[in-house]
Amino acid sequence: MKKGREYPARFCGGLTLVAVLAAIGLLAGTVGLRAEPEMGSHGYDEFDKPEYCGTSCHTDFFRQWQQAMMSQAYTHHWDEIEYFDLAVAHAEKVPSMKGPVDGCNGCHTPLAFMAGDVTPPRPEEGSRANESVSCEVCHTAVGISGDEPFNFNFISEPGRNKYGPRSTGKSPAHEMVKSEFLGTTEFCGACHNEKNPVGIWVKSTQQEWKAGPYAEDDTRCQDCHMTSAPMRTASMGAEHADARLHLFHGAHDPGKVRGTVEVRIHPDLKEAEPGDRVVFTAAVFNQKTGHKFPTGSVEDRIVWMHVEATDAAGKVYHLPVDPKGFEGEEYTIAADVLAYQDMGVPLGIANFAGVQRDGVPVGDRIFRMPYFDAEGRMTIMQWNTASLGVDYRVGPRETKLETYTFDVPDDAAPGPMVVKAQVNYQRLVQPVAELLNVPAEETEIIAVNDHSTVIEVLP
Ligand code: HEC
Ligand code: HEC
Ligand code: HEC
Ligand code: HEC
Repeated sequence: MKKGREYPARFCGGLTLVAVLAAIGLLAGTVGLRAEPEMGSHGYDEFDKPEYCGTSCHTDFFRQWQQAMMSQAYTHHWDEIEYFDLAVAHAEKVPSMKGPVDGCNGCHTPLAFMAGDVTPPRPEEGSRANESVSCEVCHTAVGISGDEPFNFNFISEPGRNKYGPRSTGKSPAHEMVKSEFLGTTEFCGACHNEKNPVGIWVKSTQQEWKAGPYAEDDTRCQDCHMTSAPMRTASMGAEHADARLHLFHGAHDPGKVRGTVEVRIHPDLKEAEPGDRVVFTAAVFNQKTGHKFPTGSVEDRIVWMHVEATDAAGKVYHLPVDPKGFEGEEYTIAADVLAYQDMGVPLGIANFAGVQRDGVPVGDRIFRMPYFDAEGRMTIMQWNTASLGVDYRVGPRETKLETYTFDVPDDAAPGPMVVKAQVNYQRLVQPVAELLNVPAEETEIIAVNDHSTVIEVLP
């Protein structure tokens, strides 16, 4: 059996390799070999459109899917901007990037990839690439090639058979074939783990899950992102007690993100005079995710904690986090520095100075893992990542402690001083979004949690 999908061997060739792959794909089709998606291995017409599945039969699942990012993986504004303005533009300047950049479509619009419709038309052209991760992408998947799920190595078998959790019902439109595969985390991992052209794991959500406590409990991706409830799974079918809702809610659902981590803060002294030193400790506990927080597009995402004190007169003092001294920590404390210079290549800006790295108050703790390009500069271009920095994200059920040493200022008003810790999440660092004109929606600051404590400032 093949050992999964590596970019260099498969994608970095020129046209001839593509033609050969297409031929292998055709051959695999005719002799019934099980093969992972290849460019040109399956035509669009082998797959039904989501409207076909959803308009009269699977109406609820269809509406849920339409509201989830799965239906927008190709058309969403930030995906379009990153794919066309950075990735495709990068491959035009650095031809060795062409294979991996074509590969974006293997996860974001698998039908276009399999149809060989690469680079697909822009979303505004309304082509079938817009179907993104459609019903048929998932319900024709029968396994993965190799032992490890990553880089869209799911095996697709389009046809009258639709694979799912049951074979009990009857459908005029297709056969129902029971398959355990869709209920596994390996299935999700085929797209939620990604190894880039130089072998860096730029996405590892399923691997994080596997190494964490939820794998031991057998609480799978589906249990949190496709919860089950009694429901009709097709408008004319029977109700099932445990139908899997097609919510796929994650980073783009503020309600899913809120409360993900909890925070509690306390001082070592309850009373202090101006000039006294008080140490506050904040405990940040990951209560909700089955993987690290943040996960997935870690190169874009930022989680940070802002701590400030407000004295009895309303004057506000910002408390920077105490450094712990671990290697690479400078990337986990917000600073006034520039980064992301590698975007200059696709954007065609000579000697690009970069933009602000964090866009959040200097001194705040950031829970993140930085991605670096070959020159050691932070990057959001995951395909251009040469190494990863310190992993200071909050693991599933992990608690991180942060301290804040604070010398009560001489001008602090006597009376109660309230010290508040606020944890925030943002899908894309603000300065990058501004540079690329990404709509403000993507940089919405989601308040994850907060907690306050009080000390008494003595006169
Ligand atoms: C990202 C993958 C994915 C997409 C996209 C997807 N599904 Fe599913 N679907 C699943 C999984 C996973 C299950 C549950 C499998 C299990 O529990 O073993 C499922 C279950 C189902 C079931 C069976 C429910 C039951 O309890 O019997 C139906 C019907 C279904 N999906 C229809 C659809 C339709 C229609 C669409 C498009 C509007 C769609 N799915 C899109 C992954 C997907
Ligand atoms: C115990 C519940 C739980 C399990 C299990 C779980 N998740 Fe999540 N997931 C969450 C929560 C809560 C969030 C929202 C917070 C966040 O963005 O991380 C989330 C967010 C996500 C995101 C968006 C992350 C981001 O920050 O961009 C993705 C993608 C995701 N999950 C995929 C998966 C996959 C794939 C699996 C299985 C390997 C899985 N999840 C298992 C609870 C869970
Ligand atoms: C064919 C590839 C593919 C498969 C299989 C797949 N996903 Fe995804 N998933 C994606 C892509 C691509 C995105 C990113 C969408 C976007 O552009 O924001 C995504 C996004 C998500 C998100 C984040 C949504 C948000 O609000 O930001 C969650 C949660 C998620 N998937 C869960 C799952 C689960 C659970 C499974 C398995 C049942 C699964 N996915 C299987 C490709 C896939
Ligand atoms: C192995 C599958 C896979 C490949 C290959 C892949 N992606 Fe993704 N991509 C995902 C998944 C899954 C997510 C969702 C992660 C999350 O929610 O945090 C995602 C998220 C994104 C996002 C963030 C979407 C948002 O709204 O926040 C962008 C932009 C993106 N991908 C662009 C690309 C580009 C450009 C490429 C090619 C260079 C690429 N992807 C290759 C699976 C993939």
